[in-house]
Amino acid sequence: MVDWVRLELDVEAFDDAAFERYPRRAREAGIDFATLADLGDTADHRRAVYELNKTCSADIPERGEFFSYEEYLAQRIEVPTFDPAGIVLAIRDEAWIGMSATSLRSPEVAFSEMTGVLAPYRGQGLSLALKVPAIRFVRAAGRRRLVAFHHPRNASAIAMNRRLGFVGQGGSAAD
Ligand SMILES: CC(C)(COP(=O)(O)OP(=O)(O)OC[C@H]1O[C@@H](n2cnc3c(N)ncnc32)[C@H](O)[C@@H]1OP(=O)(O)O)[C@@H](O)C(=O)NCCC(=O)NCCS
Repeated sequence: MVDWVRLELDVEAFDDAAFERYPRRAREAGIDFATLADLGDTADHRRAVYELNKTCSADIPERGEFFSYEEYLAQRIEVPTFDPAGIVLAIRDEAWIGMSATSLRSPEVAFSEMTGVLAPYRGQGLSLALKVPAIRFVRAAGRRRLVAFHHPRNASAIAMNRRLGFVGQGGSAAD
């Protein structure tokens, strides 16, 4: 059985200014950010979110076979916690190259469903750039805590969230 790493961010304490350089640098490099709500929560866009999520999820340790599109719709999109404003996309030359999906689970807690960046664009701070508007979405929705679960061998995802100030058990440095 996998001993999942549970990480949590105090959304009120998150220092936006300390991370603002990541979306700024991405924009300077020709990468734009938009939510699914901005672009339109259409059938074609839902399918594109699925494809991007599926591609990025292939690199999650022990992820196994990804949802079929029908399963993804049923479990991730056609659910009360789904909000297209919580799907942040990184776009370069009209191609979607990264995403961060957040759902609102309870009056207090939001959940980081998936953050992924296509392999050629990794290691440039793009995940941090995606998470800045994702965290703002959580704050604007009045949730104080953002929770994420990771496979213990998903070093990049754990490092990403610890870098943003998430704390919790497991990973490279248990708090
Ligand atoms: C996790 C993921 C989104 C990170 O995206 P990225 O854009 O390459 O990450 P960034 O460049 O923004 O790096 C963020 C921080 O994590 C660290 N990091 C990134 N990749 C790392 C790795 N392979 N090992 C250790 N640390 C890593 C970076 O050093 C950086 O911290 P720093 O600023 O202190 O140096 C990307 O690797 C990915 O899409 N993985 C597959 C999908 C996945 O596992 N998603 C998470 C599950 S929800």
